[in-house]
Amino acid sequence: MNDETTQQASRQYWDNVAPFFDDEPDHGLRNPVVLDAWTHLLRASLPYTEAAILDIGCGTGSLSAVLAGLGHQVTGIDLSPVMISIAQTKAAKQGCLQTRGSHGVVRGRGGSPPPPPQPEPEKKKKTKKKKKTKIQIAFHVQDAAALDLPPEQFDALVCRHLLWALPEPEQVLRRWAELLKPNGRLILIEGFWDSGGGLHAREISEILPPCFEVYSIHNLADHPDYWGKEVSDERYAIIADKNQRVWKPSGFAADA
Ligand SMILES: C[S@@+](CC[C@H](N)C(=O)[O-])C[C@H]1O[C@@H](n2cnc3c(N)ncnc32)[C@H](O)[C@@H]1O
Repeated sequence: MNDETTQQASRQYWDNVAPFFDDEPDHGLRNPVVLDAWTHLLRASLPYTEAAILDIGCGTGSLSAVLAGLGHQVTGIDLSPVMISIAQTKAAKQGCLQTRGSHGVVRGRGGSPPPPPQPEPEKKKKTKKKKKTKIQIAFHVQDAAALDLPPEQFDALVCRHLLWALPEPEQVLRRWAELLKPNGRLILIEGFWDSGGGLHAREISEILPPCFEVYSIHNLADHPDYWGKEVSDERYAIIADKNQRVWKPSGFAADA
């Protein structure tokens, strides 16, 4: 099978799985305990201020929705159009689906300096309401191994349960690193499952590009709240920073 045939087969597989994908507790996050566990993990792993986040292989967009709920600007990509369509419906229900624009990326934080202070107008005193940024998620059908996105646009990349399945994950990680701003953060949630598939945490640490420094590795297998059941295989989150970070996680449910 050539690359294109493999990709077609993969897309077909995930298109077929998509309508039932959310039935698993950790996929649909319908159980409030499971939702809380993932929300806590993501909150603890990310900066508190509004960040531009790419959810790679976002599936039905459950984690994208959690990230938007935490106040971040999210771009979700997935190979499967059916997954993306379900993710869009979910985000629309939450009132945060971006329907226009390119990537949903927050561009440059700098901008021009603020104007000098003006004297108070004598007549009407208007209290200006602080403009609140609308949290939005933009979804795109894309191949995670060949992302068509501008470099250094994201504060963080989140990827759950996809890297292990991509051919040449080492090369893929190098490409993903380019999408991160300096000091950006990579959050990989992976595992080595009883089925025999997956990547061990140590294998990922070994193939991370040198620009990354592993900040922490968290064992998620001992905490049924993440999965809605007891699990016995290897499940973990790796947090790695591109160059040096200024912000640090505040702690995990897993470490409590
Ligand atoms: C196990 S699911 C995880 C979905 C989501 N990250 C989550 O944790 O709920 C894997 C996802 O990766 C997507 N996928 C598979 N190969 C892909 C590729 N080459 N590029 C982008 N997405 C891909 C599938 O369509 C599927 O939605």
